[in-house]
Amino acid sequence: MEIKTVGVLGCGLMGAGIAQVCAASGYKTLVREVEEPLLAKGLGRIEKFLNDGIDKGKVTPEAKTRTLANLTGTTKLEDLASADLVIEAIIENVDEKARVYAALDAVVSDSTIFCSNTSSLCITELAAKTRRPDRFAGLHFFNPVPLMKLVEVIRALTTSDETYRAVFAFAQSLGKEPITAPDKPGFIVNRLLVPYLLDAIRSYENGLGTIEDIDKGMKLGTGYPMGPFTLLDFVGLDTTYYIANIMFDEYREPAYAPPPLLKRMVLAGRLGKKSGQGFYKY
Ligand code: CAA
Repeated sequence: MEIKTVGVLGCGLMGAGIAQVCAASGYKTLVREVEEPLLAKGLGRIEKFLNDGIDKGKVTPEAKTRTLANLTGTTKLEDLASADLVIEAIIENVDEKARVYAALDAVVSDSTIFCSNTSSLCITELAAKTRRPDRFAGLHFFNPVPLMKLVEVIRALTTSDETYRAVFAFAQSLGKEPITAPDKPGFIVNRLLVPYLLDAIRSYENGLGTIEDIDKGMKLGTGYPMGPFTLLDFVGLDTTYYIANIMFDEYREPAYAPPPLLKRMVLAGRLGKKSGQGFYKY
């Protein structure tokens, strides 16, 4: 299975980051967004990241030119027909994903591998929505994708050995460090990270300390790059709430139950950095 052309579905925060690292690693990359303005926003995000990288001395102007030359944006799914591997990074909704997989199944080759960047949905369920459940795997990236070294590779019950090996090797070819995670909510990282974040909110509600002091404590006392509330704002409170609910539904353990304050902040539209206010104001 030689992978030369990669399709990316979705050019939001994650999709744009994934498309960027694929293009930067030499793959011909086709990224598809549903509407032109969303596509332009995503491609603009990639260009800004590369320009910031140049300013910081981390990206050469030649690397930026090479990356952008490998990247093509489109709103047409048919343009992904030549992709050897497609990474889906669209909205976290099984029906929406199934609709896109069905359309894609009709245009790509039989040998094309599908991967989902879902952080919380069941990979086996998603694989079963396609005509290629043996050529389907989870490939979970972390935000910000160009900077975070980790990728989780998740096998569905139906993933073939060949597909798993190809996807793992593909992640390595992006300069990432893949780990194998089980097809259970939260995989490895969110399984441990989300209860920690929820516990920080619960502890704050119970008067453990101020938001600033809890953040400072965890950042300076443990060497984490961000305290839990800064990280919650960075990940998005709606995203965390959504993942927590899926984990709680599956495991039925209090550690995964979203605390009342998290739900209320989501209801109030305080979603974190992206909405201008979360635990902090931006
Ligand atoms: N291009 C290239 N390199 C860049 C860059 C760019 N545009 N911007 C920054 N960098 C480099 C910097 O030069 C720096 O490199 P060195 O370490 O070699 O000096 C490094 O990246 C870090 O950048 P900064 O110093 O500017 O910023 P920082 O130190 O504050 O780090 C961060 C930023 C990487 C986001 C860090 O705060 C961090 O790791 N935070 C935690 C993020 C995290 O936990 N993400 C996972 C969230 S969970 C998830 O995504 C999964 C899910 O399912 C919800």
